[in-house]
Amino acid sequence: MDHIVLTGDRPTGPLHLGHYFGSLANRVALQHAHPMYVLVADYQVITDRDLPGAIQANITGLLLDYLAVGLDPAKVTIFQHSAVPELNQLLLPFLSLVSVAELRRNPTVKDEIAHSSQRAVSGLMFTYPVHQAADVLFCKGTLVPVGKDQLPHLEVTRMVARRFNERYGPVFPLPEAMLGDSPLLRGLDGGKMSKSRGNAISLSATEDETAALIRRARTDSDRLITFDEAARPEVATLLTLAGLCLGRTPQDVAAEIGDGGAVTLKKVVTEAVNEFLRPIRARRAELTEADVRAVLRAGNERARERAVVTLEEVRDAMGF
Ligand code: TRP
Repeated sequence: MDHIVLTGDRPTGPLHLGHYFGSLANRVALQHAHPMYVLVADYQVITDRDLPGAIQANITGLLLDYLAVGLDPAKVTIFQHSAVPELNQLLLPFLSLVSVAELRRNPTVKDEIAHSSQRAVSGLMFTYPVHQAADVLFCKGTLVPVGKDQLPHLEVTRMVARRFNERYGPVFPLPEAMLGDSPLLRGLDGGKMSKSRGNAISLSATEDETAALIRRARTDSDRLITFDEAARPEVATLLTLAGLCLGRTPQDVAAEIGDGGAVTLKKVVTEAVNEFLRPIRARRAELTEADVRAVLRAGNERARERAVVTLEEVRDAMGF
């Protein structure tokens, strides 16, 4: 089957190595195989916070991350919610296909509510998974590369597509999720890698920032370096990171370090990460704000053309 790939990110801050190995590398590979849309989910930023924050700077940063890692705007349509009104308009008929009880049951939404610092939970928090169905279905996406936390949302998308087709006639394909197979990359403190925890290496970090972050990483005092995720999670995290950057197994990296201790380990990791990020940094340095604006303008235009056609089909099917 010939796939249409769609995926996206909320522009809330710089992408890090966890994003790279978890999803960006996969997108860079997929762009050669299938038509692909990458969504800058700007309207989704206000689901768990009151204000969009430094939204323009975050969008520019996200685009720089995308282009620096090698997403090719000649192959990939990179676009934003706020520039494609027809996509957003699909939310209205789609909401009519989902019950309030179903919206309340979504485990990812429940988890986000539990971790949100907002005083009140907005209606958007419950309805954004349906908006996400519009993100996928506006272009008749069939393959959605996502992390595990997004699977409930993909179920909503499939449910919306199925119910729409049953009620109004066959318009939408039922998209599939594509889960990444790279090992979970933990943060430098052994917890989930996340910008807000200060344990992540951003793709935009300088050599010195990278070295400083790795220097502060926790290790243990056993000089013999071994890969043991259960007994030595911090050391294992560093070995995994070096292994991913070097294209080797963490066991192999550990064997090379031998009894060099934490100092050698950190030296190897720092060199591996900096070497890995070198071409990404070089590409970023060549990009200007004008390049970013041009890429978004072209992507928004292409996405909008697609959305206009789909919305027209939807209105026809519904008899409007
Ligand atoms: N919810 C996704 C995230 O937080 C971002 C996203 C928005 C998305 N729309 C999408 C992902 C559509 C896949 C498909 O990471």
